[in-house]
Amino acid sequence: MATKYCDFRSEPAVGLPYFVPKPRVAAGTAILPPGHEVTAESVHPAFRPISLRNVTVQNRVWVAPMCMYSSKDGFFSDFHVVHYGQWAMRGAGMITVEQTAVTETGRNTPQDAGLWSDEHIAPLKRIVDIVHSQCQKVAIQLQHAGRKAGVSAPWLGLKLVPEEHGGWPDQVYGPTPGGGAWNDNYASPVTLTEKNIFDIIQAFGDAARRAVVAGVDAIAVHGAHGYLLHSFASAASNERTGDQWGGSFENRTRLGLEVVRAIRRNIPDGMPIFYKISAVDWLPESLHGWTLEDTLKFVPLLVDAGVDLVDISSGGVDRRQKVALGPQYQVPFAAAVKRLDILGLTVATVGWVRDAATVSDILTSGNADVVHVAREFLRNPNFVQTVALATATETAWVDQYHRAPTSPYTPATSLVVFQPLSHNAQRGPNNVHNLKHLQAPDSTWIGSRMA
Ligand SMILES: Cc1cc2nc3c(=O)[nH]c(=O)nc-3n(C[C@H](O)[C@H](O)[C@H](O)COP(=O)(O)O)c2cc1C
Repeated sequence: MATKYCDFRSEPAVGLPYFVPKPRVAAGTAILPPGHEVTAESVHPAFRPISLRNVTVQNRVWVAPMCMYSSKDGFFSDFHVVHYGQWAMRGAGMITVEQTAVTETGRNTPQDAGLWSDEHIAPLKRIVDIVHSQCQKVAIQLQHAGRKAGVSAPWLGLKLVPEEHGGWPDQVYGPTPGGGAWNDNYASPVTLTEKNIFDIIQAFGDAARRAVVAGVDAIAVHGAHGYLLHSFASAASNERTGDQWGGSFENRTRLGLEVVRAIRRNIPDGMPIFYKISAVDWLPESLHGWTLEDTLKFVPLLVDAGVDLVDISSGGVDRRQKVALGPQYQVPFAAAVKRLDILGLTVATVGWVRDAATVSDILTSGNADVVHVAREFLRNPNFVQTVALATATETAWVDQYHRAPTSPYTPATSLVVFQPLSHNAQRGPNNVHNLKHLQAPDSTWIGSRMA
């Protein structure tokens, strides 16, 4: 039999200016033993591939966006390549890059990342390329921090940064005249004019266009935690009157929807949009906070505007909030959105997910389609493997690390893959009906991992 080039040399990963082997199979992909039928029962929900528009992800344990406060003038650096690369290598199917400001004054801290100029594209592309070299997917979260802008990093106390230290205390913007600061450490926001609002919508669209040039697979929007879009949506922080951006529910939610539309106009049709929402403000009725009913009214509008995934978080708009923190504390909100049963919508939950049992519980119960994990991925970059071990799922591992397998050896010849569906096609529960076997690349590769 003729020998093949790839019998002797690894294929190079694409898009990198140096040689590194392209993974034969993306880490974190489920592998079934020979003879196993691919059914809903035979593949744990955490390892059932999922498709959003043209993007297919091999598992459902995803890295949530986490600001690193590590940029100068908004630029990503080698730090970010290493930071995001660690999860790509170790099997996180989708990594959302941290909140990235669409304007300079939209940064939460002066050290936040940004995408307000074309010069920011190349450093972002380096993150995208390292993630893609590992055959994983990457999104970027676009952000305007609104009245929470211009403070120091959390470990320095989230204090308003004076101009001489790179802050912009006079250009911190919010929906409402005068008051409405998050707390006394923060700026008293200046009210956005209509022109400012249109400029910000445009800035989201422009940043999305730049992210597409950098090669991302999806665009995420930060619509939660009291930042600009949330602060407009919630009546607790938006007391604006006399124009189309304050007052009624329709007016308050207009900004978020226009931002989504601007992004949708600037990205390919096959690219998904994620929207992170605070499902509730955790405020007493007297403070007119955003409620679950508002969320259930807003999500279908987001989907009509072009959103494919809602990421269900909560809180952050008013410091008088009383958050009932605890395991799965935001899952009931995700479950309520799931019950809307919106065609083509993926529902993600986030918050206080620290172990495999919780991931398993959320996905097995169908309360969410995807679990976003933040802090546990910081503690344990191998969290996908932790879930795989706990759910007895054999998954593909890093070829270069084959001497250190993370799960017991199972002779396997089949990978679990997913046949992408067109965006509007009817999907079965958890998309499982489209799973099928794919022959492993060759019969020796699993064995060679055990050498
Ligand atoms: C260091 C750190 C930075 C964060 N930065 C962001 C961010 O940029 N965008 C965002 O939407 N949420 C951010 N979050 C919130 C997380 O995405 C997540 O919603 C929250 O931490 C709850 O999930 P966890 O319990 O898994 O950490 C951050 C959280 C942490 C710990």
